[in-house]
Amino acid sequence: MPVKINAARLKKNLEELAGFGALETGGIARESFSAADLAAKRWLMGKIKAAGLLATSDAAGNVWGRLGDQNRAVVIGSHLDTVPEGGAFDGALGVLAGLECLQTINESELPCNQAIEMVAFAGEEGAFLSFLGSRSMVGSLETSEVLAAKNMKGVPLVSAMADAGLDHRQIASARQDFSRISAYLELHIEQGPVLEASNIPIGIVTDIVGIDSYWISFLGEANHAGTTPMDMRRDALSGATAFHRRINAWIHSSPGGVVTVGNIDVNPGAFNIVPGRVRLTLEFRHTSVSRLQKMASSFMEIGNAVAEEMGLIFKSERLIWAPPVSLSDKIIDTIRQEADALGFAHRFMASGAGHDAQILAQKIKTGMIFVPSIGGKSHCPEENTHWSDIEKGVQLLLNSVIKLIMA
Ligand code: HGY
Ligand code: MN
Ligand code: MN
Repeated sequence: MPVKINAARLKKNLEELAGFGALETGGIARESFSAADLAAKRWLMGKIKAAGLLATSDAAGNVWGRLGDQNRAVVIGSHLDTVPEGGAFDGALGVLAGLECLQTINESELPCNQAIEMVAFAGEEGAFLSFLGSRSMVGSLETSEVLAAKNMKGVPLVSAMADAGLDHRQIASARQDFSRISAYLELHIEQGPVLEASNIPIGIVTDIVGIDSYWISFLGEANHAGTTPMDMRRDALSGATAFHRRINAWIHSSPGGVVTVGNIDVNPGAFNIVPGRVRLTLEFRHTSVSRLQKMASSFMEIGNAVAEEMGLIFKSERLIWAPPVSLSDKIIDTIRQEADALGFAHRFMASGAGHDAQILAQKIKTGMIFVPSIGGKSHCPEENTHWSDIEKGVQLLLNSVIKLIMA
C-alpha cells in the first residue's frame, strides 16, 4: 500500500502557523526571536508532542522532532522565521512538510532502518545574521559574529536570545554529530517564476547560489542645507546613489548574478542637513565562486572610486559569506526516480534563493525539492502556491525520505 500524506492536516497546520505574526496587510512578520517567532516555535513544539513524537529544542533556538530511536537519521528541515513583510510559505511549508512526513510514517508503521528527524531552523532570513540555526548545527558560526550581530533596530542578537531564554554562550552545543546523519532534505517554494512559466509542478534543485553581503558606509560632512553651495558639499547620499547606479550598470554588463541594495540609512536625516553619513546594505549572488569574487572586487573598486571623486570616505564590512553549493547527485537521483514513479513532471534547476540546505550541504548529502510560486512572488504578502502543487511536493518528499530510510 502506498503511504499517503494527510493533505487536510497539512493545510490546517499551514493555516494555523500563518496566524503567528499575521499583519493587517495580509503579510506575515515573524522575524527571528520576535514574539511571533517564539510563539510559533511553542506552537510547533506542541504539535510535535501531540503527534506522539519526541520534541526538543537546542541552544540556537532550533526546534527538533524525532521519530524512531535508531542511531542514524535522515533530517528534513527548513525555517519558521520570515522577512519583515513576508508570506505564509517561505520556510513554513518545508517545516510543516517535515512534520507531515514524520506523522505519516509514524501512522503507517513502516519498518524503518533509520530514524527521521524534522528541524525548524532559527533565524534563516538574517534579521540578526543569516542561517543562524543551520550554521550553529554545522558548527560554522563564530563567537565574534554572534557578539557583533544586531538587527535593523540595533538590538543585539545576544539580548534577543536572552529575552527568548537562550544563552548565546551555549550556542556551540547546538552543533550536531554528522556521523549519525545520513541525509538532509528540504522542500521549499521556488520563490521565482520558472516552474509556473513552464507548467511543471516539481523542481529538483541541483545548485544553490552563493551569497556575499556587506554593510557599506559613505562618510562625508553634515552641513547646512541652505548655505552650503552645491560644489562645496561632501554629500554622503550623493555618493551612495552614484554607487547604486554604477553597480547596477556593472551587473547588467556582466554574465549572470544579481546585486541588491535593500536598505539605506541616511544621517543625520533631516530636510535641512546635507547628509554626512549613509549606511546601506549590499548583497550579491551567483552560482560561481570566481564570479562572486569578481563582483566583490569590482563593487569595492566602484565604491572607492565614487568616494574619491566626491571627497568622501568609503567603508565596507562583510556580513555574510555563504558559498555556492552543488547538491548530492545521489539524492537528486533518488528524488528524480520517486518523481518519475509518482508520474510528476519535473525539471532540474539552480536556486537563486538561499536556503539552510546550502549550509547542510557542506557536511552531508543534501537534496531540495521546489514547488511553484504563483506569479513567481515571494518575500511579500502575495506569496502563494497552488494546493495541488503543495500536495505533489510533500508526497514526493515523503516518498524520497522513505526510500532513504529504507537504505
Ligand atoms: O534571502 C534568501 O534567499 C532566503 O530567502 N533567506
Ligand atoms: Mn526567504
Ligand atoms: Mn526560505
